[in-house]
Amino acid sequence: MGQPSILVVDDEFAVQQALKAWFSKSGYETHTADSGEAALSKLEEVPFDVVFLDIMMPGLNGIETLEEIKKRYPSTIVVMMTAYASIESAVEAMKLGAGDYLVKPLDPDLLDPLVARLLKYRELLQENVLLRDQISRMIRFENLVGKSDAMQAVYTMIRDVAGSDASVLITGETGTGKELVAKAIHAVSPRCEAPFIPINCGAFPEHLLESELFGHEKGAFTGAAFARKGRLELCSGGTLFLDEIGEITPRMQVDLLRVLEDKRFFRVGGERPIEVDFRVVAATNRDLQKAIQDGTFRADLYYRLNVVSIQVPPLRQRTDDIPLLAQHFLDRFSRETNKNIDSISREAMELLCSQPWQGNVRELQNAIERAVVVCKKRQVDVADLAFLQCSAAMPSADQALEQVIREHIQRVLKAQGGNISKAAQVLAIHRSTLHKKLKEYGLEPEGKN
Ligand SMILES: Nc1ncnc2c1ncn2[C@@H]1O[C@H](COP(=O)(O)OP(=O)(O)OP(=O)(O)O)[C@@H](O)[C@H]1O
Ligand SMILES: [Mg+2]
Repeated sequence: MGQPSILVVDDEFAVQQALKAWFSKSGYETHTADSGEAALSKLEEVPFDVVFLDIMMPGLNGIETLEEIKKRYPSTIVVMMTAYASIESAVEAMKLGAGDYLVKPLDPDLLDPLVARLLKYRELLQENVLLRDQISRMIRFENLVGKSDAMQAVYTMIRDVAGSDASVLITGETGTGKELVAKAIHAVSPRCEAPFIPINCGAFPEHLLESELFGHEKGAFTGAAFARKGRLELCSGGTLFLDEIGEITPRMQVDLLRVLEDKRFFRVGGERPIEVDFRVVAATNRDLQKAIQDGTFRADLYYRLNVVSIQVPPLRQRTDDIPLLAQHFLDRFSRETNKNIDSISREAMELLCSQPWQGNVRELQNAIERAVVVCKKRQVDVADLAFLQCSAAMPSADQALEQVIREHIQRVLKAQGGNISKAAQVLAIHRSTLHKKLKEYGLEPEGKN
């Protein structure tokens, strides 16, 4: 960028000349205009960084010109000047987005610092917008929230595969967000204008899944009073999401493989082949490799589906996403329930971060929903998450009692942020007993281990 440029707009020739001389001396590229109309046509030719604008002018007055400039060029800074200052016009000008409001006669020594300050301010604003944009791109992708390296890797994969028609197999434990990943792939792909059609393969018995997927002709089976399109047909041009693909029966595996290879199929009871253009994204929380070894899943279908694989990591392997997700769900549920809960206390957040989350993001989401229901203040506290503490980490059947006690004390202490009195209260033992136990088990009272 070259010199910042200034446009001086005043119907008085003397003012134009004085300001032009001053700003030129200060090194600004300076132009003049003698009316609002003239200013607008100058701005149409070249952009200016700052406009000094007189208010009282024949024709378009300064306030009207300001409004027009801000409408057309929102990032142009406009400074109003007038010999007839009034509170009303000052308020009006500020509301319309004026950068400042100066009273004539102007003190020339104040002009340079003013311009410098306004330019700096605009630069910061623009930088702020850029940074916000960058941050929001780092911590979320479509409807997925998460800033961990693991999730960044997932976002990158989604972007990489979106452009192609390659089949994608999404794996991951229950509740990790596989469906959201599938939707994100569709949303950033060239197919985004066409439908995204999900079908839960685990939700139907074989014959129903078949007619759901392929549709059926009238009279194809008892109860088939009308012909009906299947989801494959509805999907035309879009993305078919085969959820819980690990659940389909051997016969359906064969049928599906054929469709994927031929891109054509028959409705149940139909004789006319139907051609479809679709992309397949499948998901499972099963170990399909193992299912292949066990002989319950066809290897050829697996390779068809798994051209690209995306593994969605369990929540416990990306604990740095927990605060972000928790706040995201808190905002949502507090909005939905019209409650004014805006934050989560430090202790409560620590408790959330230390949970095993077997049910992953879905379980965290449910926990926050429950907490919002019981929370009576503006902040979610450990008390609102009491249900977590009792259900947390069930001891396994082969653990020594001493070890269970040790772990339980550790957990409670951590949940109470290392506060011995509070932990003793939760454990329903005396402080001194807790101290003794801590020593016995070699635990840190800070709750750091
Ligand atoms: N990264 C995330 N950001 C925001 N919400 C998420 C995220 N991951 C999951 N969720 C939410 O958690 C819930 C479970 O996600 P989803 O249904 O995609 O999981 P899934 O892996 O398909 O689970 P399942 O194997 O049980 O079908 C949904 O309500 C979803 O909106
Ligand atoms: Mg799912």
